[in-house]
This record gives sequence, C-alpha cells and structure tokens, in this order.
Amino acid sequence: MTHAKPNVSTFRTLDDADVANKRVLVRVDLNVPVEDGRVTDDTRIRAVLSTIGEIADKGGKVILLAHFGRPKGVDPKLSLEPIAGEVASRLGRPVAFCPETIGEKAEAAVAALKPGEVLLLENTRFDPREEKNDPAFVAALAELGDLYVNDAFATAHRAHASTEGIAHHLPAYAGRCMQEEIEALAKALEAPERPVMAVVGGAKVSSKLELLGNLVKKVDLLVIGGGMANTFLAADGTDVGKSLCEHDLGATARSIVEKAKAAGCEIVLPVDAVVAKEFKAHADNRVVPVDGVDSDEMILDAGPTSVANVVEKLKGVKTVVWNGPFGAFELSPFDMATVEVAKAAAELTDAGRVLSVAGGGDTVAALNHAGVAERFTYVSTAGGAFLEWLEGKALPGVEALRR
Ligand code: 3PG
Repeated sequence: MTHAKPNVSTFRTLDDADVANKRVLVRVDLNVPVEDGRVTDDTRIRAVLSTIGEIADKGGKVILLAHFGRPKGVDPKLSLEPIAGEVASRLGRPVAFCPETIGEKAEAAVAALKPGEVLLLENTRFDPREEKNDPAFVAALAELGDLYVNDAFATAHRAHASTEGIAHHLPAYAGRCMQEEIEALAKALEAPERPVMAVVGGAKVSSKLELLGNLVKKVDLLVIGGGMANTFLAADGTDVGKSLCEHDLGATARSIVEKAKAAGCEIVLPVDAVVAKEFKAHADNRVVPVDGVDSDEMILDAGPTSVANVVEKLKGVKTVVWNGPFGAFELSPFDMATVEVAKAAAELTDAGRVLSVAGGGDTVAALNHAGVAERFTYVSTAGGAFLEWLEGKALPGVEALRR
C-alpha cells in the first residue's frame, strides 16, 4: 500500500493557535450509535475531549459544530441536544446547547460565551446547505468564530460547509484527534510490512465497491465478510436463501474477483455459515456449508470453519486492516466470528507478530464488544473516511487544513 499521505507537519495544529479569548469553532464527529436514547459506543465522544479541554483550558470559547445521522431537513429525532449532556459528563464541564446552527439564537449564544466555556450548536445537517458546501452557509458559520479547528477525521471525506468550506474562511488548524489519526495511520500504513490482509465486512457491497476494486490492487489478501460476502457467494452461483444480498451487483462482484486475480490478491470468502430463520438474538440457528442454506434461512454469521480459515491466514500476514464485522455481531450468538477473529488479531498483535489497524463505527463497537480494541495497534474513529484513506484518496477535510 502506498499513500500520497498527509504529513502532519504540513498542517497547522493547536500548537500554532493562539486561542485565548477567541471564538474557536471546533468541528467534531459526534455521530455516535444511539439505541433507546442511550449512546452505545462513546469512542468518538472520548476522542475529542482532549481538543475541547485544551482549548477551554487555554481560555478559548469553544463552539462545537457536528452532524448527527443523515437528516433531510430539520428532524427532532436527530437533534444533538441529548449529546450535549453526554459530552459534558465526560468532559467534566458544562456544555451549553443552542437549538440553531446559524442565525440570531446561535449568534446570541456565541456572544454570551466566556473564555473556557463550551457551546454545542444544533446538527449542521438540519440545513441542506451544509452538505452542498453552500457559500452563504459557510459564510454564516464563519461569522460565528475567529478560528476554526477540525477534529473530525471521521467526517474528513465529506466536502461539506463545516468540514471543508469553512477552513478557507478562517485560520484553520487540526485538532488533537485529527492530528493523532493522521499520524497514526501514516505511521502504521504508509509502508506496511507484507503480506497485508484487508478484512472488509458489513452489510452493503454498493457503498464499498470502489474500495474493494482499489484495495485488491494494494493488499495481498482480501477477506470478505458480513452481508457483503453473500453478494460474492451469490455472484458465483451459491443460493444464499433469504440472506442480505445485493443480487443486482453480481457482475460487479465478479469483476472485483477478476481484478484481484490480475493483481495477485487472494480473495477469502466464507465456506460455512451460521443460519437462522429470524433476524433476532438467540434465534434458532444451525451451521451449514455456504451451499447448504435453505430458501427460508438467512446467513447471520460466518461459521467455525471459515473463522479457523481466516485465523490461519492471519498467522501468515504481517499487517491487517479491518473494516466491517463478519456477522450480525450486535445479536448474540451471531457475534461469534467477529469476536473470534478479533481476539486472534489481538493475540497476534500482543505477540508482536502482526500490526493491526481497524476503523469504522460498527467495527470499533465490535472490537469493544470483544474486549480487544485496546490491544489493536491502532483503532480509528473513522468509517467512510478510513476506507477512503485506505484507498489512497485525498480527504477534502484534511486537504483544506494544509498550511
Ligand atoms: C461516519 O459516521 O462515518 C461519519 O460521521 C460520516 O457520516 P456520513 O457517512 O453520514 O457522512
């Protein structure tokens, strides 16, 4: 894998910023998983605490910008208001909330801030101009601050107003989380020791197609898991029953296999699966070879032989990059394959035999669930941005921070 990757010395960081008494707009990624009003994985919140704390300690007025979900206009279910409390409790200081992102209320809330105080503005995506990187929206955001700090590596693949446009209007700096992500990924993956294995799982081929096509040219082994594996199995003529599967992408899956062959990359697919008739925790299940799935069954996890196969291959590589779980890991017992492979990767990392890097919301949640996140060489807060970074793509939010 080679990357025309950003060297952190080409960015301004918080070391270069004089924040005292300044209004500092800080873009963070607070797009955390929430179930029944409860944050189920707070990795992204914890990741930005040091930047917020540092600016506040230096006497800056911290104004947090963030998105939540993919709203089409204002959607009270996707308000950031409950997240303000989640940030405050972990930060150990109050976080005020403003129900607007720009406009009079936001201006008044910002004007009321004293040095060292923290304010969270409403979901930037409630305004459709955010995702369009609309100049008027960018200008209105920029009015609210004197400086801009981007600490949202996980959103850096989006050229949106609060992630890209605004960096051209105000003196712009990388926050500590952004800085750490860039440094750690560059260190781990700029010139990775071979063989390199990529594990790509999760539900949808469609959102990761381009990635797979590019990855097979960069890695030695590509392990495909999760719902995505079903699309590859079906493309090869296997009947996957009721499993999650993008049947219309068969030709694309086949072309990825061809590209892999041409590039000398081995594709590893599951050979057995855990199947059930219902998508729920503890549903009756059985283990079958992948060609033994009944028409009323769905694949919810990779089977034990597949796991043993992946673990064996893992022992022969020097670097593993991982995005996406092997099964419906949030539903017990369909977390088996993800947990077992995660533990094996952690053990090999502990033993100094493999360098392990993982990224993506679900992946981080799965590694936390397996209790091994801390043992990976590096775990990125980013999902989509991590994938684009792996492909060697320039990330607009990162590029806009260059000196
Ligand atoms: C993520 O969850 O990967 C980031 O917050 C970006 O979210 P998006 O895919 O909705 O742009």
